[in-house]
Amino acid sequence: MASLRGPFFLFALIMATSIANPSWAPPRGLLDSLPRQLLESARSPEFFEWMKGVRRRIHQHPELAFEEHMTGELIRRELEGLGIDYSWPVARTGVVATIGPGDGPEFALRADMDALPLEEKVDWEHKSRHRGKMHACGHDAHITMLLGAARLLQDRKDDLKGTVKLIFQPAEEGFAGAYHVLKEGTLEKTRAIFGLHVDPRLPSGSLSSKSGVLLAASARFMAVIRGKGRLLGHDPVLAASFAVLGLQAIISRETDPIQSSVVSVVFVRAGDALDAIPESVTLGGTFRSLTNEGLAFLSRRIKEVIEAYSAAHRCTSAVMFMEEERIPYPPTVNDPAMYELARRVGEELVGRNKVHVSKPMMAAEDFGFYSQRIPSTLFLVGTRNQTVGAVHQLHSPYFFFDDCVLPFGAALHAAVAMAYLDSS
Ligand SMILES: *[C@@H]1O[C@H](CO)[C@@H](O)[C@H](O)[C@H]1NC(C)=O
Repeated sequence: MASLRGPFFLFALIMATSIANPSWAPPRGLLDSLPRQLLESARSPEFFEWMKGVRRRIHQHPELAFEEHMTGELIRRELEGLGIDYSWPVARTGVVATIGPGDGPEFALRADMDALPLEEKVDWEHKSRHRGKMHACGHDAHITMLLGAARLLQDRKDDLKGTVKLIFQPAEEGFAGAYHVLKEGTLEKTRAIFGLHVDPRLPSGSLSSKSGVLLAASARFMAVIRGKGRLLGHDPVLAASFAVLGLQAIISRETDPIQSSVVSVVFVRAGDALDAIPESVTLGGTFRSLTNEGLAFLSRRIKEVIEAYSAAHRCTSAVMFMEEERIPYPPTVNDPAMYELARRVGEELVGRNKVHVSKPMMAAEDFGFYSQRIPSTLFLVGTRNQTVGAVHQLHSPYFFFDDCVLPFGAALHAAVAMAYLDSS
């Protein structure tokens, strides 16, 4: 229903508007051919080969959160080659480029830079050269698309009706790079922000997003449950077992089934002998909600449930949320007007039938930090392509990216920025 209603409603609205006002015309820069022109440029052989080369160089040299030194250097070299000003370091290893006249409204585009602690299992020419590190979440493509957008915008800088900030942001994977970018005041004057993420569940050349909540708020917990002198009746294994089951009841009995939430215990560590009760059990996991309030509720109940089951089994417990080094992520909430603008640009870019309405997802993104502060929207860009074997999920050691998608990402970034500045 949702996917049917949207386009029909828009169609009806456009019809009604055209009948009421025969001279009605779409806003300039939105529905004219700008997105297609930008795509045309980004697809020209020389431009495409440049992007492909950049993406592959980054892919070969993945760096983890806040260690993106080589990646940052590559970004700065490319920006210098394009004659674009930047500040560095931002949030330790990030780079923020600026294009435009220096006055007028300011709009931001964002790409994340870090790789994952994974061993790449794809055998190809540009495989990761660093053991145990891999760009398996497409951030190499995100950087390249934003560099592509930088070049497109720089070529048209005299047409810009304001300033575009291009944020190459470190540490998306669990270390809240976006939080640190905001904390440094980098986006004090920014009026709105756009970001994208590749998505191998969608075919190459298609887009998807939604208005409102797109991605979940997310946090972590860890608990240590201790028995007493290895005595029967003070068994931390039994206490932990009850606690793990008790945690599931928070979701099944205490949260609104219409509003998704998640509590997952993903590790349990205890003793290793076959004839002794271990001194302690450590367990931990993740919890997610579509709202900040929901996340706060879950964290309160996780602590209470683990403490209560531990006490019932005469054990002590300590529940930790590690919020200092692993700041919880807020939900990513798309601003309705920003979503609408990007959707229209996206439809012009790839065709109306290739822009889908997404469902909310329980994945989390530190883009959520921007969305709490600035009108923002995040779009998913399809990368599934059987022909090149781009079929594996994000965070899989087999993840493989379809380079043909790079021009779409570059053009989408640039077109959304230009359309925003045109319309404000
Ligand atoms: C998939 O990749 C092939 C080879 O690069 C390309 O010709 C084709 O257009 C791609 N498919 C889509 C849907 O983009």
